[in-house]
Amino acid sequence: MAENFEPKILGFFCNWCTSSAADLAGTSRLQYPPNIRPIRVMCSGTVDPAYIIRGLLEGADAVVVGGCHPGDCHYISGNYKARRRVKLLKTIFKTLSLPDDRIYLKWISASEGKKFADEMTNITADVKKKGASPIGKKWNI
Ligand code: FES
Repeated sequence: MAENFEPKILGFFCNWCTSSAADLAGTSRLQYPPNIRPIRVMCSGTVDPAYIIRGLLEGADAVVVGGCHPGDCHYISGNYKARRRVKLLKTIFKTLSLPDDRIYLKWISASEGKKFADEMTNITADVKKKGASPIGKKWNI
């Protein structure tokens, strides 16, 4: 793997929690790698698996879905749906011999700016260790 590989990591972050945690991390001047490309969604339950697949096919080295903690979803069960979808997607990836470890699901509340910065730092380090994603290349996109 190239020494200076900088992964592109796509983040789908819930408006009510993980996006606010990202804002809090910013206003608290907490440092985390700039590899995350955040997309604000209204709930982790709105993240269609097709968005994750498309992101990976079009060049993301990993995708992070960030939602409210179980029991805290503003739409009652969106995060449970997200959890089931991510689990199912990983199973499908395994079946297709695709790496399922490029998809992360994290529960980060609005008050957890430090946790947000730590998780993004850890995920970026993890993806750097794994190297560039082979998923997009498999289909030669
Ligand atoms: Fe945050 Fe549903 S509103 S995960």
